[in-house]
Amino acid sequence: MIKKIGVLTSGGDAPGMNAAVSAVIRYASSNKIEVFVIKDGYKGLINDWIEQADINYAQNIIALGGTAIGSARLPEFADIKVREKAVANLKKHAIEALVVIGGDGSYMGAQRLTEMGINCVGLPGTIDNDIVSSDYTIGFDTALNTIVQAIDKIRDTMQSHNRAAVIEVMGNQCGDLALYASIATGADVISTSESKLTEQEIVDQVTAIAKTGKRSVVVVVSEKMYPDVHALAEKVEASSGYVTRATVLGHIQRGGSPSAMDRHLAVTSAMFAVDQIIAGKGGLYIGLDGTKLVARDINSTLNMPRKDKTEETNKIRFLNAQFLK
Ligand code: F6P
Repeated sequence: MIKKIGVLTSGGDAPGMNAAVSAVIRYASSNKIEVFVIKDGYKGLINDWIEQADINYAQNIIALGGTAIGSARLPEFADIKVREKAVANLKKHAIEALVVIGGDGSYMGAQRLTEMGINCVGLPGTIDNDIVSSDYTIGFDTALNTIVQAIDKIRDTMQSHNRAAVIEVMGNQCGDLALYASIATGADVISTSESKLTEQEIVDQVTAIAKTGKRSVVVVVSEKMYPDVHALAEKVEASSGYVTRATVLGHIQRGGSPSAMDRHLAVTSAMFAVDQIIAGKGGLYIGLDGTKLVARDINSTLNMPRKDKTEETNKIRFLNAQFLK
């Protein structure tokens, strides 16, 4: 029977990571397993920033945003020498297995550590919803709600002043935050990572809307697609005649107390991950398949295709542009 496990958060933080850490500590402790927290992700593993978890602390972090145990990105973890240091530190504390909470950047580290004798089970923690092996990720729902609230507020002022807004949202290479937020807010023009419009197409669409006399226009775009959304707003203004403002929502999207749905996913998937470790398994990533939690081999998830959302995006474009017809 396993006696000691570790938990870490890796990559960009996401609301709900604390709820997941809390559930790992509480559930493992109730199964008579000692839990250690590793500070600042894989970086803490190589620097021996490893501490015994405190159950009282675990009970008080469930509602907190960010990650209380810290996170970092560590590309150097791909180097075997760096990982050997991590394994040595884990062995020093007699830690036999790890729960890794993070995005796709954390996958390979978890797989490699498993191959080196430390069973790792991953939880999908990222606002981007870009983990193909899970329908939803921990943090996505909270970030989405933050974005929707922001877009609703921007719409208020655009409507008052007869203006257009270009709003850039996060998501890395995944358009889900942009798509879901556009559905929830009735955005007039949508350009996502998977269903990209050219700058000219955006300008033309807003110009067509202007001709209908609509008072406000909201354009939602995924990040990393256009060199400068402020310059894009200027082009929209020059062609459409709307005074146009650009807003980059930025890191506000990553903070805040997790939503009930993110806490639910975090807690249930954390318990499921600990169950896998108790069963002696490793090299797995937990995912949500419909309403069911599944544990997939990390290697098998690497080649899973991303769901094509082009048709869904076009349908929403059609719905939200009804007034043009
Ligand atoms: O992966 C989460 C995420 O917030 C992405 O949406 C974004 O592209 C990136 O992290 C930003 O990273 P950083 O905080 O390092 O600038």
